[in-house]
Formats: sequence, C-alpha cells, structure tokens
Amino acid sequence: MCMLIVANWKAYIDDLAKAKKLFAVSKRLARTTKCAIVLAPSAPLLGALAKNNTSDVAFAAQDVSLSTGGAQTGEITVGALAAAGATYAIIGHSERRAVGDTDTIIAEKLERALAHDLTPILCVGERERDNEGRYLVIVREQLTTALRMLSPKGRAKIIVAYEPLWAIGKAASFAILPNDLAEMALYIHKVLAELLPGKNSNRSLVLYGGAVEPDNARALVAGSRVDGLLVGHASTDPHIFSLVVKQLV
Ligand code: PGA
Repeated sequence: MCMLIVANWKAYIDDLAKAKKLFAVSKRLARTTKCAIVLAPSAPLLGALAKNNTSDVAFAAQDVSLSTGGAQTGEITVGALAAAGATYAIIGHSERRAVGDTDTIIAEKLERALAHDLTPILCVGERERDNEGRYLVIVREQLTTALRMLSPKGRAKIIVAYEPLWAIGKAASFAILPNDLAEMALYIHKVLAELLPGKNSNRSLVLYGGAVEPDNARALVAGSRVDGLLVGHASTDPHIFSLVVKQLV
C-alpha cells in the first residue's frame, strides 16, 4: 500500500540543521518505500529547504494568508509560499481554527491556495466524541461550508485530513480506534459524494491525523479506508518518523 504521509512540523522545528536532517531522511524514505511524503515546515524553513527541490519529497505550507498582497505587513501570501516551493497547503488546522479561522475564512483560504495551484489539505474534526452522533454533524458542516464556495473542479482537488481534536498531540493510545476511523472515512466519502459531481468523490483522498505514532500507524490505515496520515509530533524526530513511514509499506 502506497500512502500519502504529511509531516506537520508545527512550531517544533526551528533549527535549519534539524530541518535538513529530516529532509534528508524523508528523501531516503520516499525513494525506498515509494510512499508520497509531504513536509510542512515553518515558512522560513520551507523557503530554505524547498528551493530548487528536485526530490520526490514535496512541501506544504502550514497555513495560508487571506492577503493577496499589498500594504499588509507580516502577511505571507500564497504566491510567496508557492514561489518558495510549496505545492500543498494545510488549511483549517484546529490550531489555526483556535486562533480565529472560521469555516468561512477557511473556504476563502482554500480558494487562495487553489488559485496558486497549491493542493489544499483541509483539516476537519470534532472537539469531542459524543454518543448522539453530533461529531458527524460537525464534520459535515465543516466540509460543506468549506467546499460549497468552490467550483466543482476546485472541490475535486481537496485532500481531507480528519483530525479529531481530542487525539491531537497525544500518545498513540489516545488515537481513534481503527473501526471508528473506518466509519468516519466512509462518512467523509459520503459527504464528499454529495458535494462532488460524478465519480470524483471516489478519487478524493482522506487522511487521518492525531496521535499517530509508530505503534498505531499500521493498524490505523489497515483497519480503515484512509489514504494516508497527517503526522505531527512523531514527524519531528528522524528515527521515529522513519518508523512511522515503514509501518505503511
Ligand atoms: P499529532 O498532531 O500527530 O502531534 O497528534 C497531528 C496534527 O495536529 O496535525
């Protein structure tokens, strides 16, 4: 099984030497495992690593700005990220939602990313699991609000990363159970089928993120219909990240 693995370095990595080491290890892993690896460093490190990148490893921005340029000090436009070498963009991560990204802002960010040919990785997920199925309604709302503003062509390009907030940043034992993930992956495909024309929804990729570690990576993908993983803390150590990727081969 060849998977898509997105390494979300968040603000864990701020050292160029460490970033270079992780990039070197990722290039080797991409070559030997044939997994598609996407690294999401901070913007300055993305600029340093992705410049003249000819490897199989791709780069994602961790977020994009709504700014299209001009007198807006501090903003990093999608154009600048694309020029720096990003070909993907994580959008709507819960850590960005926590500081103000609403579903409407996220929808606009998806449009910005698509306008510069970045493939958006749209993060969705509930804060807590309830017994009444509210979590399904929340995920449906997040997907619908984010995608309905986009053209059918744009919608078909979105990768969805299901990341329940209650699992993020935790140890493997706190991750979702493979059966519950299988249910959610199926549900996300069902909602996408309503939003995407024809058979496009079958081609949409759905990833899982939250407490992915070497101990659970294989079981999570084997027991569900996800196409890959979005890995946070376990992607920031070369040895541990290698172990995660090798679980998927
Ligand atoms: P985690 O983070 O792997 O550290 O839980 C995943 C994410 O937030 O993208």
